[in-house]
Amino acid sequence: MTLVLKIGGSILTDKNRKLTARPDEITRVAKEIAIHPNDVVLVHGAGSFGHIPAKKYGLPHEFDRAGLRVTHSSVAKLCEKVVEALSLAGVECLPVHPLSCLYLRGGRIDSFFMEPIKEMLTNGIMPVLHGDVAMDATGKAAIVSGDQLVAYIAKAVQAEVVAVGSNVDGVLFSGKPLSRITRKELSQVESAIVGSAGVDVTGGMRGKLLELLDLADLGIDSMIFNAGIEGNIARVLLGECVGTRIGRAN
Ligand code: IPE
Repeated sequence: MTLVLKIGGSILTDKNRKLTARPDEITRVAKEIAIHPNDVVLVHGAGSFGHIPAKKYGLPHEFDRAGLRVTHSSVAKLCEKVVEALSLAGVECLPVHPLSCLYLRGGRIDSFFMEPIKEMLTNGIMPVLHGDVAMDATGKAAIVSGDQLVAYIAKAVQAEVVAVGSNVDGVLFSGKPLSRITRKELSQVESAIVGSAGVDVTGGMRGKLLELLDLADLGIDSMIFNAGIEGNIARVLLGECVGTRIGRAN
């Protein structure tokens, strides 16, 4: 049984301040993951380590070589912090940088060399991926969000649990989290969906939902939950449904 878990950059960093990690939150998240680390693929968001440099260099709309280098090395630094916290919490894990193992076409993942990830899982190692810059066949380079990675990986490994943690209680409608949403309801709630607070170049809550609805169309349900509330990460890893369930319309 494979679980794909994303922890949003809004939890791990201060999204408004350049290169500002939240070390206490990174440690807390790592400890919760350590409760059930088996067969988990972890994807983390870029937060201020990605969105701020990306915006500064005009990515993904402009092709800027220095911008790619600066943004990648910045998100790789955040990944290093996550890997370190996980290993301190007793989880064997390895970083997997999307820039080096996938190729985009028009901003969407076209090919992804996933064998190392599968091999890590088989051998009790948690792969740790993150939102990143990536080369693109049609636009030279672009950004691959953690949410796109989650949907792609969940499909490739036929994940049983797919959970996307952010700093809100789920998909909020009139201030309250919906318990379930399908593509059918999207048009009714779309205008009320609040984007993410802070600098965000990958579409905030709307982008997240669209990725997960595509996944639901393939028969894989997921959830959007609040990873900022202590205990929620452990609950989802133990199979509980927390937050808003993203499912297929009947
Ligand atoms: C964004 O990744 C990647 C870059 C800006 C380089 P995400 O979209 O997954 O990051 P968060 O979760 O919003 O911080």
